Amino acid sequence: MFAEKLSSMLNRLLKPQPKYITVAARPDGAAPERMLPPDRMPAHVAIIMDGNGRWAQNRGLPRSAGHASGTEALRDIIRASDDWGIQALSLYAFSTENWARSKDEVNALMGLLLKYFNSEIDELDEKNVCIRILGDIDGLPEPQREAVERAMERTRDNTGLKLNIALNYGGHAELLRAAQRLARRVQAGEMQPEEITKEDFEAELYTAGLPPVDLLIRTSGEVRTSNFLPWQTAYAEMIFDPVLWPDYDRAHYLKNLREYAARDRRYGGVKGETCGENTEENS
Ligand code: IPE
Ligand code: IPE
Ligand code: MG
Repeated sequence: MFAEKLSSMLNRLLKPQPKYITVAARPDGAAPERMLPPDRMPAHVAIIMDGNGRWAQNRGLPRSAGHASGTEALRDIIRASDDWGIQALSLYAFSTENWARSKDEVNALMGLLLKYFNSEIDELDEKNVCIRILGDIDGLPEPQREAVERAMERTRDNTGLKLNIALNYGGHAELLRAAQRLARRVQAGEMQPEEITKEDFEAELYTAGLPPVDLLIRTSGEVRTSNFLPWQTAYAEMIFDPVLWPDYDRAHYLKNLREYAARDRRYGGVKGETCGENTEENS
């Protein structure tokens, strides 16, 4: 009994607490941010930017005003990710299911997309950001397809933040596409079905070469992932923040990153044990 208590006390004392030691200087001259130590930062953050419509409705504005305002939040979060040295950021901008919305809303979203790429590309390129689109680009209207292809081509050799924008993206469609591509390789005699590995499968996803998602954030309080990166988030930590996307800023982001840093990622193991180690029970 006493030994158990002592061991739990020791465990608590020895539990590595995140130390907020890294201070990032703000480029805009604002107060420095107390950042997390690098080993507690997620390598890959994915965000479901939700709540634009409700934000607008709350103000008696059309939904498109919410999307326009959401674009400002997007700029802020991309900058913060770059300032804080996040390796990869994947943003859900338009799902394969979002075509079900009214023509007006889809047009407004497509218009904003074009405006965004035209106005941001110079700065993103300058910041060494590498842009990748996740999703079926061929299904986008011609001007949008051209703009995103130009952006990818222009930034393809950049070595900074890997910015992935999910457009006309659906997780089921992505997995089916990967299965079809592998089936074609089998059909061509390149490999046997039983030789297909996890790595082969991942190489056929839109996110090929990127680390798995460490942290998935969804704003607006909805607790679902809406067909976003089902394979890549299999072991992600998830945070469902009630804030509506246009109100989300770097202070919310930092708060979410701190929550992530305090989480205990076990991957099916038991905390404190190393793989194959003998414990009291099994030795
Ligand atoms: C997210 O906000 C943006 C897109 C899906 C493009 P919503 O438009 O879904 O906002 P809500 O969920 O209706 O508030
Ligand atoms: C998910 O949000 C898609 C994007 C944020 C682009 P939705 O608002 O479309 O998802 P549901 O309909 O609430 O599941
Ligand atoms: Mg929504």
